[in-house]
Amino acid sequence: MPKLTIDDAPVEVPDGLNLIEAARLCGIEIPHYCYHPALSVVGNCRMCLVEVEKAPKLQIACNTRVTEGMVVRTTSDRTHAAQRAVLEFLLANHPIDCPVCDQAGECKLQDYYMDYDAQPSRFPLGKKVRKGKAIDAGSDVMLDQERCVLCGRCVRFFDEITHTSELAIFERGDHCKIDIWPGRPIDNKYAGNVIDICPVGALTEKDFRFRMRVWYLHRTPSVCAGCERGCSIDIHHQRGRIYRYKPRENPAVNSYWMCDEGRHSFTTVQSETRLVAPLYQDGDRLIAESWPEALRRASARIMALGQQFGADAIGVVIGAQATNEEAFALQRLIKETIGSDQIATLSWSPPDASPDDKLLIRANKNPNTRGLAALGLPADGLDLLASAVSAGKLKMLIVLRADLVRALGEQSFMEKFGPLEYLLVLDTDANQTCQMANQVLPLGAYTETDGSFTNFKGRVQRIHQAIAPPGEALAGLEVIGRLGHALDGTERPSSAELVFAEMAAHEAPFQGMTLAALGPHGLDLKN
Ligand code: SF4
Ligand code: SF4
Ligand code: FES
Repeated sequence: MPKLTIDDAPVEVPDGLNLIEAARLCGIEIPHYCYHPALSVVGNCRMCLVEVEKAPKLQIACNTRVTEGMVVRTTSDRTHAAQRAVLEFLLANHPIDCPVCDQAGECKLQDYYMDYDAQPSRFPLGKKVRKGKAIDAGSDVMLDQERCVLCGRCVRFFDEITHTSELAIFERGDHCKIDIWPGRPIDNKYAGNVIDICPVGALTEKDFRFRMRVWYLHRTPSVCAGCERGCSIDIHHQRGRIYRYKPRENPAVNSYWMCDEGRHSFTTVQSETRLVAPLYQDGDRLIAESWPEALRRASARIMALGQQFGADAIGVVIGAQATNEEAFALQRLIKETIGSDQIATLSWSPPDASPDDKLLIRANKNPNTRGLAALGLPADGLDLLASAVSAGKLKMLIVLRADLVRALGEQSFMEKFGPLEYLLVLDTDANQTCQMANQVLPLGAYTETDGSFTNFKGRVQRIHQAIAPPGEALAGLEVIGRLGHALDGTERPSSAELVFAEMAAHEAPFQGMTLAALGPHGLDLKN
């Protein structure tokens, strides 16, 4: 660990770090555009110039490694002069777009101008070089060439991460511009990441453009539920509405990236088909009712069928969309309160879903398949339940976050589960299984729920509630707790923290963990 001095403070940092990362560890920000920790270092923006004792010229911090005894100054007069010069150069041809630019509020040109420059422009407005604006670059990416600072991060992302090389820098001098190759628009499954890493408003998201000023958005850390990778994300929301997902850095899961499918998956939790009230079947219609009525109805059915046919007349299917805590709470309810062993899981993905790739995307589109396995729940088990139905032993099925009808097909579902006397569905959407149900209890989606998911590698990660469930819908743990209370009069914890603590006490793979201890990057299951 080399010892050096940064801004007069002696520090000791891991060997091999560059000065940007070393300073960051000491709480000092060295401004930079072209440097990104997950991309190669090119040193072309010169924004990170710092003074290094004994070096005759200023050095670029992104390409200077720490060495023993080094003395670095990031705030000296020479450093400030260089920062102002670089900013003046970058802003010479920059358009006056801030009032209409989506990046305003999270733009590194704006931020650095305020922090390091703050001088009026000496460049006449009428002499600025004009370049292309609002160019559809393909995928969800809109390109504004005038706003670009030519840092090359987007080019390197497509060269080094997706290996698709759709962007390049064309022309020379002040006519330099980012562009696609003629006739070859951006076409890969990770295109949205260039919008995230572009430090200015040159690359913006078509879907997000002009929809919301970023300073109004709240950020809630969570996990993408689009597949079993479970990329760390921030949910950006305002007044109960989600506007976008952004990838959150997690070295153990997704580095700095996420796929476009996951990025846009928040639209599914804001669909018109969300369930907003408990429903019961009346003839061929589903009718809304209050929660007390719904819980009375469900518990009465469970008790009546249990008394008449025995506890094993009640079964449960837990979908791999459920959180660890929901799955744990429901399996305890079925095993301990109802006394049945009839448990199956469903981890289904559409046959046309995107397959595994080499970067992040997984063919299994469920966020918690591994979590269900860690709880000792059977993988699948639907055929055993179906046999019990055809033998006349299983009379009622409780289905948690699993669209059985879509997964099996309507005909197969009817053959296997048609003879059931009662189908109780706990889910977020009016899916095909809800249409067949005798009763439906509406749940909050994962964006409306506290808890955790376990990704396919066994990384347990925390999800936080970002917004409230719509209408009368409730968090899954609340519904399971209320159902248990209606069955035996016992209060159950409905907070994810408490249920997680119980789970950690009973399930060896989660032993020693708490929800809070998962932190921003999660923890590995104990094997
Ligand atoms: S478009 Fe953005 S990321 Fe790409 S070179 Fe320009 S400023 Fe950098
Ligand atoms: S790879 Fe999977 S978890 Fe990651 S963003 Fe895409 S869909 Fe979401
Ligand atoms: S960040 Fe160092 S030269 Fe661009």
